[in-house]
Amino acid sequence: MVRVTEILEQVLSNLGKTPRDSWVTMTELVLPHHTNQLGTVFGGTVMSWMDICGAIAAFRHVGGEVVTASVDDLHFLAPIYLGWIVEITGHVCYAGNTSVDVWVEVNAENPHTRERSRTAQSFLTFVARDVQGQPKKVPPLILETEQDHKLHELAKLRRSQRLQRKQMSQI
Ligand SMILES: CC(C)(COP(=O)(O)OP(=O)(O)OC[C@H]1O[C@@H](n2cnc3c(N)ncnc32)[C@H](O)[C@@H]1OP(=O)(O)O)[C@@H](O)C(=O)NCCC(=O)NCCS
Repeated sequence: MVRVTEILEQVLSNLGKTPRDSWVTMTELVLPHHTNQLGTVFGGTVMSWMDICGAIAAFRHVGGEVVTASVDDLHFLAPIYLGWIVEITGHVCYAGNTSVDVWVEVNAENPHTRERSRTAQSFLTFVARDVQGQPKKVPPLILETEQDHKLHELAKLRRSQRLQRKQMSQI
């Protein structure tokens, strides 16, 4: 009986998943150990949150283990202060053969004024691995909304530029 369920899940996953299926929202409160000497969040902490958020989204799409292959250009758009609330959201926006691209956004909220601002965003690429650690095929992505199509086109473009840059940096 369990085997039938597993096979059914496998068949359904091969039909594809939508960006909504992999949606992740994480919320963090900025504590003293997250900050630098200026009282703002340490950039590496934000990168770590983005990596975790992206990995969970990729895992949800793939239905198994993934490793981070790359992080696209990452710009820190605004500082985040001690005591602020940080929301990290992500979802798969492009599915290749064995890799997926995840769009991750970081928004921060000043809890006193309730003002929110975008503080970072990037595409992260994850490669799916089988139990032997070899790259494994990922389910196709089913695009639903206009925003899904927009991000998918952008991810496709960024991906080809990124792979070109990877080749150029191999000296
Ligand atoms: C990422 C990794 C699996 C890629 O291995 P590889 O042998 O170069 O992989 P392949 O050439 O077979 O490519 C596999 C997929 O990854 C993609 N890929 C590989 N390197 C990439 C990069 N730098 N950026 C984006 N995508 C990349 C390829 O385009 C391919 O995608 P596709 O199948 O959807 O077309 C390998 O380099 C690795 O294990 N790196 C360490 C990962 C890790 O430990 N991460 C934790 C952070 S330190």
